[in-house]
Amino acid sequence: MYNVLLFFHIFFAAMVLALVPFGIFMKGRKARSKGTPVELYNIQMEFAVGRFMGMIGGIGLLIAGGGLAGIGKMPWFAFGNEQFLWLAVKQSVYVVVLILNFGFMMPVGKKAMPLIAQQIAAGGSGGATDEIRALAAKASMIGTLMGLLGMTNAVLGVFGPSWHWNIAF
Ligand code: HEM
Repeated sequence: MYNVLLFFHIFFAAMVLALVPFGIFMKGRKARSKGTPVELYNIQMEFAVGRFMGMIGGIGLLIAGGGLAGIGKMPWFAFGNEQFLWLAVKQSVYVVVLILNFGFMMPVGKKAMPLIAQQIAAGGSGGATDEIRALAAKASMIGTLMGLLGMTNAVLGVFGPSWHWNIAF
């Protein structure tokens, strides 16, 4: 059962971390389509894919990660336990990712998507408005930060269990 959960944990980790190269790829596509109706579809697609992969991957990571901690009898947020400091940091990083997602990314997406739909319904000539571009840029910045935190957790997950930090809080 532990290895099944580990498989799914890695699978969902790959799902959320795939958003990093996806963001880089979409940056180029948005730049090339700037000022055309395609720009709107690119921004819309990036929000939609980010929301889907982020939510499914994020929830899957927590369920599988929590399961691993449960079966492995590992503590939560145990900063005082040197052996599991890596996991305490991972769990805290995950909380920061949740705050970025629900506190920042989702409100930006909620504001942008109706504006994009409006612009597309109006024919989309001239591409995105400056307001839509500003919201898309903000989402890309938040997404990059979440991606860096996700990569931190991946490194902690791969190397953490074998690290001896010789420190405890
Ligand atoms: C952004 C969020 C996260 C990412 C990207 C992530 C990624 C990873 C990766 C790549 C591994 C290494 C798997 C391997 O051994 O090859 C791992 C291990 C692990 N993760 Fe996560 N993780 C995340 C969040 C969490 C959370 C929230 C928990 C617990 C509540 C958790 C618990 C674990 C545990 C216990 C292991 C060790 C598995 C083992 O080696 O036996 N992870 N994680």
